[in-house]
Amino acid sequence: MNLLAEIRSRFATALASVDGFTGDTRPIVELVRPSSDAKFGDYQANCAMPLGKQLGKPPREIAASLVEALDVSDWCETPEIAGPGFINLRVKDEQIARLVARAAQSERLGVPQVATPQTVVVDYSSPNVAKPMHVGHIRSTVIGAALAEVLRFLGHRVITDNHIGDWGTQFGMIIYGYKHFVDEVALEKTPVPELTRLYRLVNRLIEYHAAKTTGLPAMEERIAGQTKLVAELGSVPATGDKKVDKKEAKKLHAAENSLRELKADQTSLQNQIAAIDNDPTLGPLAQQHTGIGKAVLQETAKLHEGDPTNRDLWQRILPPCLEEIDATYDRLGVTFDQTLGESFYHDRLAKVVDDLVARGLATESEGAMCVFLEGFDAPMIVRKKDGAFLYSTTDLATIAYRMEEWQPDVILYVVDYRQSLHFEQLFATARMSGFDQVELQHVPFGTVLGEDGKPYKTRSGSAVGLGGLLDEAVDRARAIADGSKLLTTDQERQQVAQRIGIGAIKYADLAHNRTSDYVFSYDKMLAMNGNTAAYMQYSCARVRGIFAKAGVTLEESLSQACEIKLDSTAERALGLALLQFAETLERVAEDYRPNHLTTYLFELASRYSDFFQNCPVVKAESTEIRASRLALCALTVSTLETGLRLLGIESVERM
Ligand code: ARG
Repeated sequence: MNLLAEIRSRFATALASVDGFTGDTRPIVELVRPSSDAKFGDYQANCAMPLGKQLGKPPREIAASLVEALDVSDWCETPEIAGPGFINLRVKDEQIARLVARAAQSERLGVPQVATPQTVVVDYSSPNVAKPMHVGHIRSTVIGAALAEVLRFLGHRVITDNHIGDWGTQFGMIIYGYKHFVDEVALEKTPVPELTRLYRLVNRLIEYHAAKTTGLPAMEERIAGQTKLVAELGSVPATGDKKVDKKEAKKLHAAENSLRELKADQTSLQNQIAAIDNDPTLGPLAQQHTGIGKAVLQETAKLHEGDPTNRDLWQRILPPCLEEIDATYDRLGVTFDQTLGESFYHDRLAKVVDDLVARGLATESEGAMCVFLEGFDAPMIVRKKDGAFLYSTTDLATIAYRMEEWQPDVILYVVDYRQSLHFEQLFATARMSGFDQVELQHVPFGTVLGEDGKPYKTRSGSAVGLGGLLDEAVDRARAIADGSKLLTTDQERQQVAQRIGIGAIKYADLAHNRTSDYVFSYDKMLAMNGNTAAYMQYSCARVRGIFAKAGVTLEESLSQACEIKLDSTAERALGLALLQFAETLERVAEDYRPNHLTTYLFELASRYSDFFQNCPVVKAESTEIRASRLALCALTVSTLETGLRLLGIESVERM
C-alpha cells in the first residue's frame, strides 16, 4: 500500500471543494510529502501557500477549508494546521500496525503493483567498444540497471538494451593502427591490450596534428584578440568618477586574467606538441603520418561501405573487445535483455534520411543533409557531405526499430549530461517524424571527479580503466572482511570482500544525486559509518544475527501471523519507515533518481538502530511483544535486502 499516494488522492478530492480553485490538482497535491521532522507529524501538506497566492486569500484560511473538506479519518488523526498554513498529518497507530503486519505477510513487502504497467526501454551502459571502458561507463551501467530493476519490481514491462558503439570512428583508428603499427604476436596473445595500444597511439598522433594545424593557430588568434582588448582597456583614461573608474579597472583585470589563462593553455598545448617532437619513437612516426586524421576517416568509411579487408579486420577486432566488456559486466553482475549495437542499424540508415527528406524535415545544406530545428543554433546533421551517417542517424533508426519491435511507452537514455544537446535534437526530430506518443527521456548524470576536482584519471594520465578500479575496491574491502571475527575461512572473507568492494562503487554512484558531479574516494565509499554500501550490508548482517540468537528463522518470523505492537516511539517510527518503501520506489520511478532509494535505506537503517537500542527483542517483556519485534526485524532486513538488490548490491549474511 502506498500511503502517500492514498493521502494525496484524498487531497485531490478535497481540492475540488476549495472555493475558486481551478486547474491542475497534481502540482498542488505533490506538495503533500513525508515530514522532514517527526514533530510536524508523519506527512505534511504545503499546499495552502501556493493556493493562497493563486486565490488571493490568506493561506491559513485556505488550509482551514482544505482540512474541512479533507476526509482522511480512516488513515489519520485529525489534521493540524501549523504556522502560516502547513497541514500536519499523523497516521493512526493502529493503521501502521495493521499495514506492517500485512506487509510482513506479503511477498512484495507491501509494495503494490502499478495499476497500468508501461513498456519501458532502458538504454544504458552503451560503451564504445575498442576504446577502453572508463569510470563514466560505470555510472551509466549502475544507474541504468537500478532504474530497470525498480521499474520491473513495480510491475512495468522493462526491456534493457545496451546500445554499444561498435561501428564508430574508433574502428577506423584501430584499422589504421593495425595496418601500420600492429605487433601480430601481441595481438594473438593478448588482443585487448594490443588494440588499446593501437587506439591510443593513433589517437595521440591525430591529436598532435590537430593541435599543430588547427588548435595552436586558433589559440594564437584568440591571444592576439585578447591582447588587443587588454591594450584598449588599459588605455582608457581615468574619468575621476570613482564608481566608473572602479568598473573599468575591474574589466581590465578580468581581461588580463583570461589572457593569462589563454597563454597557459597555449603553453600546455605547445608542451604536448614538443613531447611528441622530442620523443625518439613518436617524433618520427608523427612526421611519417601527417595525413592520419583524414586517413582514419577513410578507413571508417571503407568499413561502412563493406570493404572486405576492413570488414574482416572488424570481425576480428570485435569479439575480444566484447569479451572484455562482458567480463566487466560479469563482475558487476549486470545483464541486458538486448545488446543491439550501432552496427545493427547500419542497413537502416539510408532509409532514415530518405524518410526525413520525404517528410520535408531534412534539407541539404553545403552538401550535408540537415534537420533544422526551431530553438537550436545549429542543425542536426544526419548525413555528412562525404555520405557518412552519424550518431544521430543511428539513434533515429534505433527509435524506429524499438517502436516497431516493442511499442514502448517510454524510452530512457541513461547517458552523460554532456550529450544533452544531442538528445534534445534527437527527440525533437523523432517527434516530428511521428514518434510523438512515446516519452523519450534523457536521464543524464554528472562526471566522476578525482580528489583534485578534475575528471577522475589514473596517475599515468589516462582515464581509469574499469578492471583496475574494481580490483582496488575489492582489495581495500578485504581489510574490512579480515577484521571480522565472524568470517572464518579465507573463501568466506574473499566473497564478503567482493560484495563490499563492488557494492561500495555501485552505492557511491547511486547515492549521489545523479545530475551532480561527484568526487570518487575509496576511503569515503568504504567507510563503515555513514550512507555507504558497507554500512548497509553491515546493518543487514546485524539484523540477521538476531534470529540465530532468538532460535527462529527470518522466514518464520515473517510468516507467523502476529499482532504488531508499536507502543514505543522507536517501534512506531520503524513501522512507519517500513511502510514507506512503496512510496520511495514510486518516487524513484517518477523522476528516475535511485538516490531516493539509498536515502530511504539509510534512514530505515537508522530507525532500526534506534529501535534496537531501545527495545529488547530476544529478551522482550512478553512473548507477544517478542513476536512483534521479531516480525519488525524480519521485515526490516527483507526491505533492506530487497532495496539493495534492486540497486544491484549483494548483501552478506555475516560480517
Ligand atoms: N556510445 C555512446 C558513448 O559512449 C553512448 C550511447 C548512448 N545511447 C544512445 N542511444 N545514444 O558516448
